[in-house]
Amino acid sequence: MAAGKGTRLKSKHPKVLHEIGGKPILAHVIATAKKVVPAGNIFVIIGHEAESVREAVRGTGVNFVLQAEQRGTGHALMVAREALSGNKAGNKYDQVIVLSGDAPLITADTIRKLSDFHSAQKATMTLLSADLDNPYGYGRVIRKGRGAEVQAIVEEKSATAQQRKIREINSGFYAFAAPALYENIDHLSTANAHGEYYLTDMAGVFHRARKKVVAIKTDDAGEILGSNTRAEMMMLDARLRLAKCRELLERGVTIFYPHTCVIDSDVEVGADTVIEPFVQLLGSTKIGADCRIRSYSVIANSVLGDRVTVKPGTIMEDSRVGAGAVLGPYSHLRPGSDVGEDAHVGNFVETKKIKLGKGSKANHLSYLGDAEIGEGVNIGAGTITCNYDGVNKHKTVIEDGVFIGSDSTLVAPVKIGRGAYVAAASCITEDVPADALALGRARQSVKEGWAREKREKRR
Ligand code: UD1
Ligand code: CA
Repeated sequence: MAAGKGTRLKSKHPKVLHEIGGKPILAHVIATAKKVVPAGNIFVIIGHEAESVREAVRGTGVNFVLQAEQRGTGHALMVAREALSGNKAGNKYDQVIVLSGDAPLITADTIRKLSDFHSAQKATMTLLSADLDNPYGYGRVIRKGRGAEVQAIVEEKSATAQQRKIREINSGFYAFAAPALYENIDHLSTANAHGEYYLTDMAGVFHRARKKVVAIKTDDAGEILGSNTRAEMMMLDARLRLAKCRELLERGVTIFYPHTCVIDSDVEVGADTVIEPFVQLLGSTKIGADCRIRSYSVIANSVLGDRVTVKPGTIMEDSRVGAGAVLGPYSHLRPGSDVGEDAHVGNFVETKKIKLGKGSKANHLSYLGDAEIGEGVNIGAGTITCNYDGVNKHKTVIEDGVFIGSDSTLVAPVKIGRGAYVAAASCITEDVPADALALGRARQSVKEGWAREKREKRR
């Protein structure tokens, strides 16, 4: 269920698209659901901002059901009737598992336990419950006796003072016998505090119809937490990221002060890599083994080989870095940077859409954009590829073994042939042949005694 607006967030964006752990809340729920059933058997109920929600998770291969008007969680399932119970020819599914699109910490194990318990109990409805120290806001589970059977779920607003003391809450995850659900769902009514069709009322409906409703408690109440407010969302984000750090530690990664690091859910890191405090590893970033990522580096959607050193304050996006390379401090790799094995990119070097060959070095204060740089090249301090003429971008080619003297400007399109030298402070506007020396600067003139004479005049 992902059709709600999320009024309590005070946001113009739909609740399920708010991000925790670096991706939309709904994407977490879908990823978990896909571990339990194939994507083709997953139906996402969308409504509020339906098109943007659909767009955000289209790549997952799930189906969508449109709940154009959001009249409650029960109504959401009514709208899905056709998708889930299908045609007159019969039912498509025996069991329907309902997940809440705003509760992203649920695990595949717990969903399977819920489903298996439902089958083993031959129940009509099984709900996942949890004991919370502070059950405020959640529906409370009214058990029939001491056993697994449930009589009803009462929402916070409809609960009596006595019922509000119950600490066992409804998590919003259920398994239903699909045929029974759709034979009885029309008994739901909107006679309640919100004037909505509550899915939770199905417990009472089934109970009155003498059908079996049971509850199974989670071992970890943290898994079922929802994200109705910004505060809850930040709590989930912190939980998810700490869990991610624990998973990486488990895999042999060292993370100092993990609570200071921001590591997204899909990031991968190899064993014996060390991550220093205040590092951000974002999106689909993959880092090899034996690397060291030093403090204040922000690495997004990039792939790093083994034994890479990233010195403090390096910013990187959509880039690739070969094994043994050394970056930073304060390098800025913009999208499309491809740094070869054992290459060096040093402080205040900005790169964009370049290939820097194996063992090549650009150690200080440079801009390298739209360039193809070969192996064993030395880019002197202050080198600039002038790639933009105000209208179009042009390419610079620097072949293997070239030496670019400091403070040179290479006006693209231009090519420096294999093994050539460019003298310091040159402005290169024409191609340089292999093994040549190119000088592109004014000749120095010296006026003997000039400074002394100037000083003497001043006295
Ligand atoms: C719901 C339960 C409550 C439970 C809690 C657990 C009901 C009536 N109450 O309350 O017992 O303790 O979850 O987190 O079900 N949605 C739709 N269409 C709608 C309304 C909601 O798809 O018309 C979706 C929302 O986007 C959300 C989910 O259903 O993902 C749950 O709705 P929400 O409004 O958050 O329910 P709660 O008030 O949290
Ligand atoms: Ca909720």
